[in-house]
Amino acid sequence: MAESVVRTIQDVGQMNEQLLALRDAVLAISSDLSLTEVLHRIVRAAALLGSARYAALGVPDDTGRMLAEFVTEGLSPEEVALIAHPPKGRGLLGLIMREHVTVRVREISAHPLSVGFPPGHPPMGSFLGVPILYKGRCLGNLYLTDKIGAEEFTVGDENQIEWLASHAAIAIENARLYEEVQRLTVIEERQRIGMDLHDGVIQSIYAVGLQLEFIRALLEDGETTQAHDRMGTAIDALNNTIRDIRSYILDLRPHSFQGNDLNEGLRRLTADFKANSLVATELQLSAEANSLVSPESRLALFQITQEALANVAKHARATKVLVRFSPGAEGIVLEIRDNGRGLPPDGAVKRMGHGLTNMAQRAQTIGAEFNVASEPGKGTRIQLRLRRSAPDGE
Ligand SMILES: Nc1ncnc2c1ncn2[C@@H]1O[C@H](COP(=O)(O)OP(=O)(O)OP(=O)(O)O)[C@@H](O)[C@H]1O
Ligand SMILES: [Mg+2]
Repeated sequence: MAESVVRTIQDVGQMNEQLLALRDAVLAISSDLSLTEVLHRIVRAAALLGSARYAALGVPDDTGRMLAEFVTEGLSPEEVALIAHPPKGRGLLGLIMREHVTVRVREISAHPLSVGFPPGHPPMGSFLGVPILYKGRCLGNLYLTDKIGAEEFTVGDENQIEWLASHAAIAIENARLYEEVQRLTVIEERQRIGMDLHDGVIQSIYAVGLQLEFIRALLEDGETTQAHDRMGTAIDALNNTIRDIRSYILDLRPHSFQGNDLNEGLRRLTADFKANSLVATELQLSAEANSLVSPESRLALFQITQEALANVAKHARATKVLVRFSPGAEGIVLEIRDNGRGLPPDGAVKRMGHGLTNMAQRAQTIGAEFNVASEPGKGTRIQLRLRRSAPDGE
């Protein structure tokens, strides 16, 4: 084959690789990836796109004058370990960071601003450095060194890496915002837990404290019978508080379920419920039922069971609960039945929480029949009935 044809084939192969790297970097922009993963993808794409032996991405600290983070591509872990410390952002790197300019040189060490490499750093020659700018702020810098197959980087490389940097800016900002939202969610959740504890558990314990003081006064007055009765009430109140804390913990704990094995998910849910509520729990499963419902339905059924059990722990005062998931003549049935005090009258239930409404909505989404039956003092039964789906989850 002619040499020029071989070269064209090689060029096409290389372009293809570069396009794939670009696609990867652009996809990272719209993803929920962590900031570190986004930085790694960008630096990998930069190395491929600019045909550089080494590439790095430096992220400045809050002052914008020093590098806080330095992600590399092309160095082996052994080579990284040999470097005394990552570059701090003085010299040439500092120029890009402070002045927001692109720098392209044939030989790093020949540049007047070069301060040399940290001890243990491999020698590097040609250099291309591009700032990653977002609304006038410098979010990071891309550095490429040692152009493969040529003495230096070209104007074409410069344009392509600047183009990548403009996309990288959005990806980095997106990942930052995503992390910020998660942090705020945690703070909000903490405040809610604090408020719940203050208004609920702490008030109940405070009330028990008052009762105990009253009992002491009764004892000092020799009123032992009355003190004895009051003691019983105080113990009941404490036990109720313990039960409330248990159900609160049960409600808080996140249960992840990937929609694969509902039987396994239900086993985990009921084991946790049993440990936290001390209610006798019976589980009736059938291996067949799991394969007859789609993965989407399995997730909904898991979430419904989770809420139904949380309700039993919170409201039912039950001593027994049954969770059944089995195929019947008229479809597959999921049932959560307790022997507690039953639901309050109709109107009262509607004014309360979101749990029962959510259950009904989830059931509707998966095309299941949803039924709640309850008798005062005799318990509550949540029942769902689904049509069989093809075993492949059609
Ligand atoms: N198994 C049950 N036994 C007795 N009462 C129940 C049971 N399940 C629900 N309830 C009653 O029905 C009401 C509505 O339940 P729902 O799950 O919709 O709301 P919630 O549990 O009060 O609040 P949320 O679920 O939004 O945290 C409850 O407040 C409770 O009074
Ligand atoms: Mg509820």
